[in-house]
This record gives sequence, structure tokens and C-alpha cells, in this order.
Amino acid sequence: DWTPAAFVQETVDKIKAQVGDKKVVMALSGGVDSTVAAELIHKAIGSNLYCVFVDNGLLRKNEFETVLDSYKHMGLNVKGVNAKDLFYGELKGVSDPEKKRKIIGRLFIEVFQQEATQLKDIAFLGQGTIYPDVIESVSVNGPSVTIKSHHNVGGLPEKMNMGLVEPLRFLFKDEVRRVGREIGISEIFLGRHPFPGPGLAIRILGEITPEKVAMLQEADAVYIDGLREAELYDKVWQAGTILLPVQSVGVMGDERTYEFTVALRAVTSVDGMTADWAHLPYEFLAKMSNDIINKVKGINRVVYDISSKPPATIEWE
Ligand code: XMP
Repeated sequence: DWTPAAFVQETVDKIKAQVGDKKVVMALSGGVDSTVAAELIHKAIGSNLYCVFVDNGLLRKNEFETVLDSYKHMGLNVKGVNAKDLFYGELKGVSDPEKKRKIIGRLFIEVFQQEATQLKDIAFLGQGTIYPDVIESVSVNGPSVTIKSHHNVGGLPEKMNMGLVEPLRFLFKDEVRRVGREIGISEIFLGRHPFPGPGLAIRILGEITPEKVAMLQEADAVYIDGLREAELYDKVWQAGTILLPVQSVGVMGDERTYEFTVALRAVTSVDGMTADWAHLPYEFLAKMSNDIINKVKGINRVVYDISSKPPATIEWE
């Protein structure tokens, strides 16, 4: 019988045996998986775990500062790296979704590798890979078709020539949360929705600019805060906003506007492989539309995505 307590005990022992007194480096994403993985490794080897948290400029509003702070409070040995300008620079003029992913994946590896090589005597790479990542990267990225390349699996290990420590490799998301709860990670962290590695880059359709990122961060913050306030956040598996590459006519006061549209997405799911659009109350959607249009400059229209996966995907890119 699988229990979180037994899993933690067994995993900590395994990590101790695997790593000994060597050092592990690990990238944190702010997500549940890498956080739980890091805490397990930390439990096993303490400050011999070196964590790196990269700000790619594509995170949610205030996410980098808030999450870095939480990591420090958890006692993790973590370094925050501001690489925003590097990412914005390389993404300039790029609108193809797969190209965006490739660029972000490559830059992430470069930044991480640079940090890792500054540390001496690192023997292992820690990763928060979970079971669905393993399956989806095998089935989705077959030799002939790539629907979406998920850069959180692969890439790093081959390039870094280090042993891997992946304590969550055989767990599903709900099990990861149970393990996190067992080792005392806060509910706010554990209940966080999944967020894609390429972040807001794949929620800005078309070209990415720092201005569009700022606009989407504001809209996203209104929506996510709204979901929490209405006690809907924990009822959906994932939610976010998408900035569409179209402008449309609106009216504000006596003025004619010609501004962007934001799509709201919320889905229910078990593992992200299939998903249903969440039937959020009309009143809530109406409030979100008003709040976003009133608070976020540059947006004059809000729509709700009522597509399920398949045939749509959760993200729009
Ligand atoms: P889709 O859009 O394929 O997404 O239905 C399924 C889940 O995966 C996340 N996702 C990604 N995660 N890198 C990631 O780390 C990616 O490139 C990526 N694309 C999608 C998505 O947010 C959802 O949770």
C-alpha cells in the first residue's frame, strides 16, 4: 500500500545512498513538482543541495520575488537569477510557438549551466520530473510528430553529463501533493495550478514584447486573484489568461478604442492529458470581464474559452 509517509522515508534513504556526501544542483520553477522534489532532496542532503531559480521575465506578476522568498523561508539554499533581458532580447520578433519554446528552453539551459559551473564539485542534477512528463514526452514527441515540445524533460541531463536525482519520477500530481503535505510544504504552494515552463510566452500569441508581458501579467493577476476570492481557484485544475494577437473596436466614455482581447481559460482535469473547460458562473465571468477591462490598460474585450482537450489543448500555443 502506497502511503506518503513511507514514500518519504524510502525516498530520503534512497537519495542519501545515491548521493552520499556529493553535491546536487537543481533548477526550481516555483511549481509544485520542483518544490516537493527539492524539499525531499534537501531533507536527505541538507545544504549540499544548491538551487537556482531563474527569472525569465515570463512569470506571473510578482511571482519571482514572492516565490524566491518562500524558498528562502523553507531553508533552501537558493540563488535567484534575473535573466529577463536575455530572454526578451532573444524572443524579439519570434512568433512561432515551437521556436519560442526552443529559444526559452535553450536560454534556460544556458543560464542554468552557467550558474552550475560556478559551483564546484557538483555531481548530480536534481529534477522534479513526474510520471505524466515522462509519458507525454515519449508519446507526444515521437520521431515524426511533435505537437508541443515540453522542455522540462530532456535537454538538461544530456548536456550536463551528471547523474540524475528524480525523486518524483513515478508519481502522479495528486501523489506529489500528498507527499508535499507530508513534509510540511504550505497549502498555498501545494494547491498552485500547473504553469508551463515557457510561461506567458505561450500565452501571448504572436510576438512577445515586455509591454505585452506586463499587460498580460496584470490581467492574469486580476483573474487569479478573482478565482481565489470567489473560492473557485481550488475547483479548477488550471487557469490563466491568453493575450490574443487581434485588436478590436470598443468604446470607453466618448472615446472609440482599438485595443487587445484577452481570453480566459479554466479547465478541470486529472492529469492535464485530457481536460474539460470549467463551467464557471456567468456572474463571476462578468465580474472578471469588467475588472480586467477597467484595470488593465490596452484591453477592451474579454472572451471565455469553452473548448475541451482534445481536440483543443489547454494552452493556446
Ligand atoms: P497542453 O497545452 O498541451 O498542456 O494541453 C498540458 C499541460 O502542460 C503544460 N504545458 C507545458 N509545460 N512546457 C511545460 O513545462 C511546455 O512547453 C508546456 N506546454 C504546455 C500546460 O500548461 C498544461 O498544464
